Amino acid sequence: MQSIVILVSGRGSNMEAMLAAGLPCRVAAVIANKADAKGLETARARGIPAVVVAHAGHASRQSFDAALAAEIDRHAPDLVVLAGFMRILGEDFVRRYQGRLMNIHPSLLPAFPGLHTHRRALDAGCRVHGCTVHFVTPALDNGPIIAQAAVPVRPDDSEETLAARVLAQEHVIYPQAVRWFVEGRLRLTEDGRVRLSGEQTAAAALLSPPPDAR
Ligand code: GAR
Repeated sequence: MQSIVILVSGRGSNMEAMLAAGLPCRVAAVIANKADAKGLETARARGIPAVVVAHAGHASRQSFDAALAAEIDRHAPDLVVLAGFMRILGEDFVRRYQGRLMNIHPSLLPAFPGLHTHRRALDAGCRVHGCTVHFVTPALDNGPIIAQAAVPVRPDDSEETLAARVLAQEHVIYPQAVRWFVEGRLRLTEDGRVRLSGEQTAAAALLSPPPDAR
């Protein structure tokens, strides 16, 4: 059975969704860059080793990245899952885990990399918004796309209502993507493409606003 390490910075709801999904893998550890990350408590309550590698106290990004990599490597995971991990990781770190480092981002990439994605989608007048699971490459919130979920933006949406609608879909597509990986169905090819084998169920197209019925 493959093993994964999950990296969190805060709430950890994507991590919880993953733990609840009954994935066919061992969660070797949850690592946070902040001691008060709520995800740590959740992991400990489930008997999963929960470790802090604090970014504060490291003089440089390289030094933090090296400490983080050393902790990850102690658990020898097949896959490293960034689940709301809010530190930018350097190129050496990303290359070390190439093809086995996954992230979720709360927008339909390549739209809205970075922060405040829901506010920016509202400000731009988007009618469709969503989330993306991707393999991590050195460029921020970039990298080969594994899965996306789209949700409608409603006229009366606030940042909070839109975020909640997107988050519900994050909790669906992220465990699914990790499942594909640990089942050996998903990989990143040498030329940087996502290969997914086996059956997938076709989902209905999402159109917003829905066209008039005829
Ligand atoms: C999620 O919405 C995730 O997509 C986002 O942080 C939130 C973490 O929530 N990640 C990023 O913005 C990464 N660029 P969680 O801690 O409850 O999973």
